[in-house]
Amino acid sequence: MLLALAPKTLSPFSFLPNPKPNPKNQIPKFATLNQNPVPNSEPIDRKCEYRTERGLKFDTGETFFRHESATGRDLGVLAATLYKKSRGKLRVLDALCGCGIRSLRYLVEAEADFVLANDGNVESRDVITENLRSSGEEEEERWKVTLMDANRIMTECYLNRDFYDLIDIDSFGSDSSFLRSAINALRMDGLLYVTSTDGFSSGGRRPQQTLAAYGAYVRPMPYSNELGLRMLIGGVVRVASVMGYRVTPLFSYYSYHGPVFRVMLRVIRGKLPDSRHYGFISYCRDCGNSHEFSWDELGRISCPCSDSKVSMSLVVSGPLWTGPLHDAAYITDMLTLAKEWGWAGSDTGTDLDKLLNTMVAESDPRLPFGFINLDEVASRAKVNSPALKAVVSALQKEGYAVSRSHIESNALKTNCPMSECIRIAQELQQ
Ligand SMILES: C[S@@+](CC[C@H](N)C(=O)[O-])C[C@H]1O[C@@H](n2cnc3c(N)ncnc32)[C@H](O)[C@@H]1O
Ligand SMILES: [Zn+2]
Repeated sequence: MLLALAPKTLSPFSFLPNPKPNPKNQIPKFATLNQNPVPNSEPIDRKCEYRTERGLKFDTGETFFRHESATGRDLGVLAATLYKKSRGKLRVLDALCGCGIRSLRYLVEAEADFVLANDGNVESRDVITENLRSSGEEEEERWKVTLMDANRIMTECYLNRDFYDLIDIDSFGSDSSFLRSAINALRMDGLLYVTSTDGFSSGGRRPQQTLAAYGAYVRPMPYSNELGLRMLIGGVVRVASVMGYRVTPLFSYYSYHGPVFRVMLRVIRGKLPDSRHYGFISYCRDCGNSHEFSWDELGRISCPCSDSKVSMSLVVSGPLWTGPLHDAAYITDMLTLAKEWGWAGSDTGTDLDKLLNTMVAESDPRLPFGFINLDEVASRAKVNSPALKAVVSALQKEGYAVSRSHIESNALKTNCPMSECIRIAQELQQ
């Protein structure tokens, strides 16, 4: 029965084995696992490359590994730990685990009760197994390694009612093909950690691609990397709603290494998604202001600067997530935990400390989507780029909400219109 459900050519990766007729497949759970590519072969000499992350030593061998993704792993572990503390249990499915470092960290740091580490690369068994063994436990105790297409393992888990509290999908590009099977294999109220590494798409250079992958037509806008996060969340909203679920982001994280867009979402059973947060975003090249439009405003989209006339200066993207990027309370708890562990705190001066504090600030409900880059303000104001700190205090003095953006260092999130930002920049210049 499972074979009939096997994905056909779900992945472009040639190393993924096509499921072969195998009598063992008749036993559903993990029946296709633990096979060496060449049965009964001698262990093959493999290249070892040892690294350390948060005090854990592991081997990356010849797997795909980026040390720059450590922050994304830190955030995942913090969120997972909070989940375990509040629910008292944590089962993690690391569906594209590479060398297994995430799995090891969920196991050791988040104290997961069980971690299923899966990767499609059948050559990675030894490296993943050795890394997980360094937790001090043997396979089948609190962890297990599988080497399958991610969609296949998640579908098997779903069919076996073997649900997970957290599913980590660390995929490449704008591959949204894992979303449906991940939501199926997720426990009710569980956490889904999704990825996009497609900066071309969020930059508006491949609207057909974003439409296909996330159901959003994305055009070039000044805050394109925030759009990348919103397009990813919107894509999950869309898939989840087909299945009768609602999703809310706990945190959204952009990193320029890659680039990588990562979002941790809580998936809950519910009615149709709140359409207030799933709509269209416009940016006006003339006045520099952005607006949000709901579905019932379609056909009436224009910028106030053009007297409600259709304007060529308007760029519209959507539908995508227009709501908050983070859950302020969750991020605050993550920051508290990070401080407890010595990963953050004013005396640590770590990037993680800065990131979590900026995310807390970005969660101010008065702040709209997008951000304003100070170079754009300067160019519109025809002045030199003002100092960020000076603009922040001027905006605060005038009663506007303002925060830095974790996405762009020279940008601000604010509810102040562009015309006022221009005035402030000009006044600061005098
Ligand atoms: C970005 S890397 C994972 C890195 C790892 N999570 C980490 O934090 O170091 C993506 C991994 O996905 C695996 N992969 C690619 N397509 C896959 C598929 N369809 N199913 C399962 N694994 C796949 C690759 O072998 C690769 O190890
Ligand atoms: Zn305008």
